Amino acid sequence: MCGIVGYIGKQDTTKFLLDGLKELEYRGYDSAGIALLNKDKIDVFKALGKLNNLIEKVENSDLGTYEIGIGHTRWATHGKPTELNAHPHLGEYSYVVHNGIIENYKELKEELINAGHKFVSQTDTEVIVHLFENYLNKANEQSQENKVNNTNQAFKDTIERLEGAFSILLISKADPTKIFFFKHGSPLIVARGKEDNEVLFASSDAPLIGLAKEVVYLEDGVGGIASKNGIEFLSDDYSWSTLPTSKQFAQKDGFRFFMEKEIYEQSSVVSDCMLGRIQDEEILFDEIEESILDGIKEIKICACGTSFHAGLTSSYLFERLSKIKCSIEVASEFRYKEPMLTKDTLFIVISQSGETADTLEALKMAKKAGLKTLVICNVDNSSMTRMADFTILTRAGIEKGVASTKAFSTQTAVLWMLSLYFAKINASISFEKLQSELLALREVPKSLIIDDKIHEKTKRLSKRYLHGHGFFFIGRDVFFPLALEGALKLKEISYLHAEGYPAGEMKHGPIALADPELFTIALMPQNLLYDKIKSNVEELSARDSTICTVSPLDFELSDDFIRTQETSHYMLEFFEMLVVLQLLSMEISVRLGNDVDMPRNLAKSVTVE
Ligand code: AGP
Repeated sequence: MCGIVGYIGKQDTTKFLLDGLKELEYRGYDSAGIALLNKDKIDVFKALGKLNNLIEKVENSDLGTYEIGIGHTRWATHGKPTELNAHPHLGEYSYVVHNGIIENYKELKEELINAGHKFVSQTDTEVIVHLFENYLNKANEQSQENKVNNTNQAFKDTIERLEGAFSILLISKADPTKIFFFKHGSPLIVARGKEDNEVLFASSDAPLIGLAKEVVYLEDGVGGIASKNGIEFLSDDYSWSTLPTSKQFAQKDGFRFFMEKEIYEQSSVVSDCMLGRIQDEEILFDEIEESILDGIKEIKICACGTSFHAGLTSSYLFERLSKIKCSIEVASEFRYKEPMLTKDTLFIVISQSGETADTLEALKMAKKAGLKTLVICNVDNSSMTRMADFTILTRAGIEKGVASTKAFSTQTAVLWMLSLYFAKINASISFEKLQSELLALREVPKSLIIDDKIHEKTKRLSKRYLHGHGFFFIGRDVFFPLALEGALKLKEISYLHAEGYPAGEMKHGPIALADPELFTIALMPQNLLYDKIKSNVEELSARDSTICTVSPLDFELSDDFIRTQETSHYMLEFFEMLVVLQLLSMEISVRLGNDVDMPRNLAKSVTVE
């Protein structure tokens, strides 16, 4: 997820761009850049890392006056965070900034290189500006009569060829009075400025507050051409509206907390996470080759906290689907247990931050022992991505809430895809089975869309769970790591005691705790071991435990019940139940008056032992 800004007008273009990027830095900050257009001259500034590095560069330059400019702050999805990969990206005479992922960038890049275009970055974005110039050069060769129309048409033709998620702003010396814009997948807002002949752009409303008269929150597929004379929309599917008044409110896009925003973002970031990776009949990862499994007989996963729960979930899938022996370790235990490591093991570490000390140390141990290493990570250029042999990015965008949510769902989606990628290499599942798994995978973003009724139900239920002497979250198979994750979420932000437990284990001791003050959250998926979990819950209910069941099927012994949708695959139930557990823990924390985004005693990334 990145941040985009754009400006046309007579005020201080550079100031608007830099101030706007500052408001959007929460969307990504591994590099930033601006392009400023002054008649037929474009000045560009780019810097690695935090926005202040770019501000310093710009402030130390002698700037002209510019009536048009675009800017971008980046969260890497394709191509390491480097200055070369920083936006805006240049063709010969045009610049583009982009938020999203161009799924078909490889084929476009090949076509454009064959047409003589020179690429300098590793990004998918760069194809946009070369494609635009390719169309425009051809049009101008055929007819010089109506260059303006050629430019507009070249932009439309470019948009037609792009697949994936792309919200873009493009400026060009070929038509230095305009900003070409389009929204698809990632957010983009266009606004009329308070000053005359002023047009503003931003990925979210924070940079526009106080500066815009009215805005259009662009819908997918809507774009246009903006100039000081106004905005020409390419379709009439838009409507003008007003802005919120508070910037803080705006950075959270209207949600109460970053955690709430990130729970609601899961559907779109998991879509981004899958872009270009789910093909018609198989899974593809840009970052790895099938040879990654050469000589591999076992997978060992190592992680901490929520990332460990994603790893434990995937251990079921690697054995069930890829037919590869799989073990998983808590990193803080692994690093001191003098583990037996063999070179036929693929060592997978999972980390949102890529900086967790215990996981990093485990990775170092595996590297030292000569194992092939893969990191599943959300932050490119982090310590782990720089150390591992292979990296697969989860593309969740910045996760601000200390309690991890969208990182977990994107990690689990990547690991499910990876288990199918390995299954195809090992020919361990039939073509039909692979197709049915891909069908289910494609439904994951839909299963993460939050039904207001479900959120309202968790709000209502939260008032009942503010006391008691603790919680059990129980589940079987992959719903056991999900139960662990639900318990961790509750502990982290409500400070109430909770345990995740394998449902079948309750009778081996913990059921002695059962009484009305013991709250059990039971995950009862329809598509996996339903009868088994049902009898476990009946055992608890018979001992008067207070039970909240989460299931698509009615269960008459529930004291409380959250109904999820009936689906065709247990992993779709997994993702839907994940959202229920995240919302329930957040609403309990709200009622207790806790700091949902920055709970006590915790840090977003534990970079010490
Ligand atoms: C999860 O909500 C916690 N914030 C914590 O358990 C976290 O998952 C753990 O510290 C691992 O962090 P990482 O994914 O950045 O390695």
